[in-house]
Amino acid sequence: MNAIAEPTVPGSATRPDTFVPDDPAIWYGGTKELTEFLIARYPMDERNRRIVGESLAYLDRFYATRRTENVSGEMIPVTTSPISSDEGRALLQLAIENGVRRSLEIGFSFGMSTSHLLVANHVVGGDGHTAIDPFQLSDYYQGAGLKNIYNQNLGGRFGWIAGMSNVVLPSLLEKAQRFDLVFIDGSHLFSDTFIDAYYAYQLVPVGGLIVFDDKYLAAVRTVMNILRTNFGCVDYPYHRAKDFGVMVKTATNRLDWTKFDHEFVPFRVED
Ligand SMILES: C[S@@+](CC[C@H](N)C(=O)[O-])C[C@H]1O[C@@H](n2cnc3c(N)ncnc32)[C@H](O)[C@@H]1O
Repeated sequence: MNAIAEPTVPGSATRPDTFVPDDPAIWYGGTKELTEFLIARYPMDERNRRIVGESLAYLDRFYATRRTENVSGEMIPVTTSPISSDEGRALLQLAIENGVRRSLEIGFSFGMSTSHLLVANHVVGGDGHTAIDPFQLSDYYQGAGLKNIYNQNLGGRFGWIAGMSNVVLPSLLEKAQRFDLVFIDGSHLFSDTFIDAYYAYQLVPVGGLIVFDDKYLAAVRTVMNILRTNFGCVDYPYHRAKDFGVMVKTATNRLDWTKFDHEFVPFRVED
């Protein structure tokens, strides 16, 4: 990870906002143009170039048809709401422009956020992406997320952990795993979102990104308020997806348990 090694403070004059795109039309426009742009700007070997181009075209087809293969190769409808194509591109841009080498997500589903983060990983030559989700092989998803990753040849950098995030995340922490970006899009209950954020904070370095989907939910916005007030996180200054909440971990560590009597800061509960 390179671009956010130092904490990003909105309005700070000390470093430029690296995420304001030179040309938004490139990132959010035609797939062919985006592929050419990525290949021209980021050095990739022939295999990775092919994977990136084919994946982006594959994702276009997914969003156009909203049908996808299950693990047995049968076509099934996309019934839940994956991140949109535009949100996928925002995730892709965020991960690439910040040089994210290792990413983690909670909520695999049909594999759309997974695919975009894996494409980003190929572009930057990163160390891989992990998704946590206990329900991938349920009747609901039928392994369609896994099938999508396999169909795009993205499996080489991918790890899936079948488990509830509240059990898996502490085990990753215990194993001293670290991720430059954590995407939180699993259970949207306040309690689960908070637990996901609590561990995400500890799994990213200073400067690491914690990205929430579904900021329209009061529970998500409340958890973000807690990260601002009681964890010392700041908002990422710019990104395209309005329903994402993107936060940056700063060097301000407010989790020193010996200061429990004065560290707590009241936070706004959203409604
Ligand atoms: C909205 S979907 C994720 C969509 C996905 N990020 C995408 O864009 O394709 C929510 C996912 O969270 C998973 N989930 C629900 N509760 C969970 C939990 N406690 N731990 C991990 N995953 C969970 C569900 O199985 C579902 O796949």
